Amino acid sequence: MKELQQQFEHELLKCRTADDVEVLRLKYLGRKGAVQAQMKQLKDLQADEKADFGARINKLKNYIEEKIESFLRQILEQQRAEQIAQEHIDVTLPGRSSWAGASHPISVALRDQVRIFKDLGFSVQVGPQVESDYYNFDVLNFAEDHPAKDMQDTFYIEPGVLLRTHTSNAQGRVMERTSPPIRIVCPGRCFRNEEVSARSHVFFHQIEGLCVDETSSMQDLAWTLTEFANKYFQRDDVKIRFRPSYFPFVEPGVEVDASCTCSGKGCQLCKYTGWLELGGAGMVHAQVLRNVGIDPEKYQGYAWGFGIERMIMLRHAIKDIRLFSENDLRFLHQFPSV
Ligand code: PHE
Repeated sequence: MKELQQQFEHELLKCRTADDVEVLRLKYLGRKGAVQAQMKQLKDLQADEKADFGARINKLKNYIEEKIESFLRQILEQQRAEQIAQEHIDVTLPGRSSWAGASHPISVALRDQVRIFKDLGFSVQVGPQVESDYYNFDVLNFAEDHPAKDMQDTFYIEPGVLLRTHTSNAQGRVMERTSPPIRIVCPGRCFRNEEVSARSHVFFHQIEGLCVDETSSMQDLAWTLTEFANKYFQRDDVKIRFRPSYFPFVEPGVEVDASCTCSGKGCQLCKYTGWLELGGAGMVHAQVLRNVGIDPEKYQGYAWGFGIERMIMLRHAIKDIRLFSENDLRFLHQFPSV
């Protein structure tokens, strides 16, 4: 039995895996195993020898069982240690930063600008992007043969239906259904069939303003736009300049410039002129008022339409309008949003 034990110990040393040990277990403790074979010898022994022999077999059996169990336990522990080593977490690694979604810079600008005009007493109206010839042009006093109506500038969907070329399309709609006083802004997307370049795009955004009452004047217009420009460009010394211009729906019509941050010294942004162009404006043309059933003898109005992309480009010194629609995260992430 001592030999058996030594043999077992010797063979156990050679075991590597749980399978190896299982083979060994069967060899010693199985029904046809070595220990069982010893048991069989019991019956041939004298009664007085039986007890002693039986006890020794049992002891051997227990010993083998114990050894096998502890070997298996060892293997398990080893496997666990290997697994832990593999799952090892390096707590010194920097964490992964999470990416929060953000509003597009145009949305942010529209929201900021609408808020400024709301504070000045304007409410918000929106006109449709798919518009009729009538509200985009005719009601606004465009002559039948005005070049802007040409297919070159306007995306027609079908005869008489187009993608609005400016937010001025809201003017006629609002004036038709509202009686003065009217004080609204209309932000939104516009479309023009233009060559895409760093400065112009086939779609862009405008914010339209319209004020109609008994006393409104160019001076009110200048004051309103000065207030707006100071708030939007976060300054308090912006000057507004009007240059004579022509739009069929205003008389007089002007181009609006805001003084540049370089305060007239000249810089790259204002191309050394000291002024930044914001868009068009003027007094609502008497014919437009007549077209919507408002008496031009009693009421007068002013209106403006500014390009949103332009203003963002001026405020943040952005040189290419195409950046707004390319969805390049390296660009978009530079605009913190609220
Ligand atoms: N709608 C004009 C444009 O898109 C701008 C404008 C609006 C001019 C209101 C005068 C009054 O160019």
